[in-house]
Amino acid sequence: MTPFITIRQASASYPVYAGRDLLGEIASLIHARGRIFVITSAPLRDRFGERIAASLDADVIEIEEGESHKNLTTVNDIVTQLLARGAKRDSMAVVVGGGMVGDTAGFAASIFLRGIDLVHIPTTLLAQVDSALGGKVAVNHASGKNLIGSFFPPRAVISDLSTLDSLPRREMLSGLFEALKGGVIGDASLFEMLESPPRIDVDEVVRKAIQVKAEIVSADEREADLRRLLNYGHTIGHGIEAALDYRHLTHGEAVAWGMIGANAIAVQRGLIERNVAGRIDRVIRAWNPTPIPADIDRDAILAAAEHDKKNTGSQRVMVFPRAIGTCEVFSDITEAEIAFGVDAVLGEVR
Ligand SMILES: NC(=O)c1ccc[n+]([C@@H]2O[C@H](COP(=O)([O-])OP(=O)(O)OC[C@H]3O[C@@H](n4cnc5c(N)ncnc54)[C@H](O)[C@@H]3O)[C@@H](O)[C@H]2O)c1
Repeated sequence: MTPFITIRQASASYPVYAGRDLLGEIASLIHARGRIFVITSAPLRDRFGERIAASLDADVIEIEEGESHKNLTTVNDIVTQLLARGAKRDSMAVVVGGGMVGDTAGFAASIFLRGIDLVHIPTTLLAQVDSALGGKVAVNHASGKNLIGSFFPPRAVISDLSTLDSLPRREMLSGLFEALKGGVIGDASLFEMLESPPRIDVDEVVRKAIQVKAEIVSADEREADLRRLLNYGHTIGHGIEAALDYRHLTHGEAVAWGMIGANAIAVQRGLIERNVAGRIDRVIRAWNPTPIPADIDRDAILAAAEHDKKNTGSQRVMVFPRAIGTCEVFSDITEAEIAFGVDAVLGEVR
């Protein structure tokens, strides 16, 4: 089968397959050198994992799911199970699930015996359009999200679009917000499709969003300027997630509120016309993201944004839209501007 796209990064190239009913074809798409271990969560084991393992003659390793289990304890459990079942350097991890499973089991694969072959089978919209692409894997630390991780390109990404048929509506929406981000940063036709609901064809949305991310991570594997475009909506979005202790909103919803905040700053800076920013905001609101709780701690959002700054050096970096399909990275953001963006978002709930 011909891949939908091949991601060509400095450290490795790998195919991304995207189509319906691919789960039945996995054995022909995977080239393992040794034993295969399917790593998935309990609900997804029943839904997809057992079937995939049977077709690959693989063992299944089950992990707890949820952001609170995306940590080194779960990574250690995976390593323990791999060792107990005799995994070797030529073994392959086939990771089946959303971004939580992909990030956690992907990170375990990156460090087990200094790294074994990894294949992602993303089953959420968010994982298909975002987290499974680009080779970033990580788990959380008590003091922050995704603080322990690696750049670890997979051997392949297999996105079976039919798996999305069972995705709960709210998880679907979370991925649609990430796809919308992709449209604003790199594909006006994707944005326009998402702007008019009757025209939304989810399979097409996935393919277009994969293309945006694949182009960016192919040009910039390790997060220099271009890859930072993917952080549109994330500075304030991360702040909101952190202030809510990663509960209450999905990742995509937090990014969506973060995009509204970034748009407000972009308008204030004169980078984008108010009516163009308004178009983006209108799509987000029309999809009814879960509202931010009115009692959210504004200072905690701002503190988390400052924490982001510490991680990147001494500058505050944000991504702003210049037009639909074009964004730009700025590294001269003041604390007052971030506060302005946060207040623009909180103004809606207070
Ligand atoms: N590595 C990266 O570049 C990157 C990028 C973006 C996000 N992420 C990470 O991704 C994670 C979020 O991932 P997510 O949004 O996929 O959530 P998730 O992995 O937590 O999955 C959400 C829920 O969907 C269920 N589910 C998954 N597939 C299903 C299906 N096909 N049918 C029915 N239910 C299904 C899961 O069981 C789970 O309950 C976060 O931890 C975030 O940090 C990583």
